[in-house]
Amino acid sequence: MDLSLRLADYPRLDLIGPPTALEHLPRLSDYLGHEIYIKRDDATPLAMGGNKLRKLEFLAADALRQGADTLVTAGAIQSNHVRQTAAVAAKLGLRCVALLENPINTDAENYLTNGNRLLLDLFDAEVVMCAALDNPDQQLAELAERLEAQGFRPYVVPVGGSNALGALGYVGCALEIAHQCAGQISLGSVVTASGSAGTHAGLAVGLQLLMPATQLIGVTVSRAAAQQRPKVAAIQQDLARALAVESPLAEITLWDDYFAPGYGLPNEEGRAAIKLLARLEGILLDPVYTGKAMAGLIDGIEQQRFGREPILFVHTGGAPALFAYHPGV
Ligand SMILES: Cc1ncc(COP(=O)(O)O)c(C=O)c1O
Repeated sequence: MDLSLRLADYPRLDLIGPPTALEHLPRLSDYLGHEIYIKRDDATPLAMGGNKLRKLEFLAADALRQGADTLVTAGAIQSNHVRQTAAVAAKLGLRCVALLENPINTDAENYLTNGNRLLLDLFDAEVVMCAALDNPDQQLAELAERLEAQGFRPYVVPVGGSNALGALGYVGCALEIAHQCAGQISLGSVVTASGSAGTHAGLAVGLQLLMPATQLIGVTVSRAAAQQRPKVAAIQQDLARALAVESPLAEITLWDDYFAPGYGLPNEEGRAAIKLLARLEGILLDPVYTGKAMAGLIDGIEQQRFGREPILFVHTGGAPALFAYHPGV
């Protein structure tokens, strides 16, 4: 099957342009004694970058097709997803309403006002606070109903942009990776952070078809593997249906040793990974997602959990949160 043709069936806005870079990390490779490459989705063009723009290319196209005038979404106060959704709304001349929670119950000034939260104000997003996003789908539906009653035409972007439509963006990313590696890099493994699961599920479906010998590892950032697996698998199945994939679906591999003490709460290994990448490669990771995922990659090499082939780290962004988590949330 031609995956790019199937993907082309879905309307998509061109918010990203040419493929993000896939780069060798020579100094980190020397340091770890293992060839490491990086996919620079932290450098997508809009609003300080990140993985959500790939999902929003499909979701915002759907919103426009439905005649929406408002994007409604939800996340943590320091959500990268909400920041990128607000930026896309601004770029398209739509309103953005963001339902936010404080998942780590902090009153640290920078967490409440700096980083991604500061940028929400610049993008003119309207913020609605809630005690907790216990049932975000329902909470978003209720908020959308209220907006409709006020005469707006809301489009709900799910948490993390993670439904099958959004995850198509990461099938697209798998296509880019396959092209960029073809005949040049024989990847043994791809490592990504696995949160709301659209990134992981999209890569799983794409890589299974395009690079079946390459192992995909999702490092969990929010929950244990037992709770994360059904989330990834549900989107993987929906995606396979949407793309008419007939082969049995790849098993989902999750490493869940690196997210403690919990979602949004930094740990020592993640902080060390952030410093290492900054010091050796001039690349910024973040304390909530990519620092922890990179800590998993580093520990995986130490524990000999990988084969000898090169590893690709998918850098999903998040650096604006560095300012929110400093000093010491
Ligand atoms: C920087 C960053 N990396 C990784 C992720 C996880 O991606 P996903 O939610 O698709 O699992 C997120 C999600 O919010 C993110 O902001």
